[in-house]
Amino acid sequence: MSDHPSPPDVKPAASSTTSSTAGITRRGFLKGAGITAASTALLESVQGLQREALAATPNDIKVFGPEPFPVTLHVNGREHALHIEPRTTLADALRIHLNMTGTKISCDRGVCSSCTVWLDKIPVNSCMTLAIDAVGREITTIEGIAGENEVHEVQAAFVRHDAMQCGFCTPGMVMSCASLIEKNPHPTEADVRYAVSGNLCRCGTYPKIFAATLDAASQMARKA
Ligand code: FES
Ligand code: FES
Repeated sequence: MSDHPSPPDVKPAASSTTSSTAGITRRGFLKGAGITAASTALLESVQGLQREALAATPNDIKVFGPEPFPVTLHVNGREHALHIEPRTTLADALRIHLNMTGTKISCDRGVCSSCTVWLDKIPVNSCMTLAIDAVGREITTIEGIAGENEVHEVQAAFVRHDAMQCGFCTPGMVMSCASLIEKNPHPTEADVRYAVSGNLCRCGTYPKIFAATLDAASQMARKA
C-alpha cells in the first residue's frame, strides 16, 4: 500500500463552448469580458468628465449664494427685480417675494401640482423649480392668465360648473387645463384627464373640472 494520497480524479476538458472548467464557462467569460470592457469605457468617460471639472478654474465657475443676490424675473409680462437666496423656489419667489399668492403650495414636493405655473407656456411645478432657473424665461401665473380685470374662459367655466370646493387645487388645475386648450383647442375628455393627471384634488371635483374644461374649449373655439 502506497504512502502517497491518491491523485485527484481529473477529467478531460470538454470541447463545447458552454462547457465549464472550475465553474467558468467560455461563453460566460466572454460575456463578462464584454461587460468589463463596456464598464471600463464608461468609467474612462466619467473620469474624463471629472478631469474636465477639476481642470476648470474657480474663475470658470459662477458661484451664487448662500446670501441673497439680485435676479430679474419676467412674470405676467412685467420685469421684477428681486434679491433672493439661490435655494429659493419659484413658488416662494412668487408668493413671498412678489406677493402673488394665487399660486398655491400644498405638498411642496412635486406631488400635487397645485403650484402649477407656466414657464415659456409649459406647465411646471413651481415648488420644484428654482427661481434662478426661471431667469430669462416667461413666467405666467394664475394672476396673469387673462388680461387685467378679466377672467380666462377656463376660470369662467370653473365658476359655471362649480368645479371647486376648497379651491386649493384650483389655480393649478386652471393652469393645466388652459395650457391644454392652448395646445389642443378641441380636446376630448380623455385629453383633459391626461392633462390634469398630475393635479391632485383632495375634494374630488374631477368630473366638474373635466366638464368645465370641455365647456371652456368649446366657448373659445366658438369665439375664435
Ligand atoms: S405644491 Fe408643488 S407639487 Fe404640490
Ligand atoms: S377643490 Fe379642494 S383640493 Fe380641489
